[in-house]
Amino acid sequence: MRFYVVTIFPELFPGPLAEGVTGKALASGRAEVLPVPLRDFTLDKHLTTDDTPYGGGPGMVMKPEPLFRAVEWVRETEGRRIPVVLLTPKGEPLRQEKVRALAGQEAWILVCGRYRGVDERFRETLVDLEISVGDFVLSGGEIPALALMDAVIRLLPGVLGNEDSADEDSFSNGTLGPPDYTKPPEFRGLKVPDVLLSGDHAKIAAWRRERALEATRRRRPDLLDK
Ligand SMILES: C[S@@+](CC[C@H](N)C(=O)[O-])C[C@H]1O[C@@H](n2cnc3c(N)ncnc32)[C@H](O)[C@@H]1O
Repeated sequence: MRFYVVTIFPELFPGPLAEGVTGKALASGRAEVLPVPLRDFTLDKHLTTDDTPYGGGPGMVMKPEPLFRAVEWVRETEGRRIPVVLLTPKGEPLRQEKVRALAGQEAWILVCGRYRGVDERFRETLVDLEISVGDFVLSGGEIPALALMDAVIRLLPGVLGNEDSADEDSFSNGTLGPPDYTKPPEFRGLKVPDVLLSGDHAKIAAWRRERALEATRRRRPDLLDK
C-alpha cells in the first residue's frame, strides 16, 4: 500500500506512523508514505501555494496550479491513475467501513489543505473522494491524513500481530468494543469480572458481546439504528 501525501509540510511525515505497528509496516515495506512537497510544484521564485479568495473575505485559498502539477507528477511517475483523496471537513465522515474500502486499493494520493482550503477547480477536476475526520475544523489536512493512514495501515494483512485482533475493535461488528482488563486480578479493591477468569470461552464471548452492546446502547445508539 503506497500513500503519496501532497502537503506544504512534508517534514510532518511519516511522523507518528514511524512508531508501533504502523512503524513496523513501513519498515517491512507493507506500507509506504511518500510526502510530495507542494512547493516543488510552484511556478514562481517565492514558491507560492496560496492566494487571496475571489469575492473577498478573510484567509487564503490554495492555488490550483501546484496542486494539479503535483497530482499529475505522481500519476506520470507511477504510470497509472492513482485516485485522489482530499481531506476536508466538507467530506464524507471517515468510518471503519470506508477505512476497509481504502485498504483495498494499492495506492492513494492524499491532499492536505491549509488556509481556507483548495481552489474549487482542483476539487471538481481531480478529486475522487473527500474525507472528513469529524465535525470540527483543524488548521490543516496533515493530521487527518495521518489518522486515515494509521487506520488503513493497521488493517493491511500481516500488520497486526494477531490477525484477529482488529475483529474485536470498536465498529468492526457495528458496535463499540467490549471493556478490557489485564493482571492483576484485583487492584486497590477493584476486581476483574469473575467470568473473565473462568476459562469458559463461550461464556466470555457472550459476556463481551453483551457488554459491547450495552456500551453502544448507552454511548452510541446511532450505531445500532444502522
Ligand atoms: C482551516 S481548514 C479549512 C476549512 C474550510 N474553510 C471549511 O470551512 O470547510 C484547512 C484545511 O484543514 C483540513 N481539515 C480541517 N478540518 C478537517 C476535518 N475535520 N477533516 C479533514 N480535513 C480537515 C482540510 O484539508 C482543510 O482544507
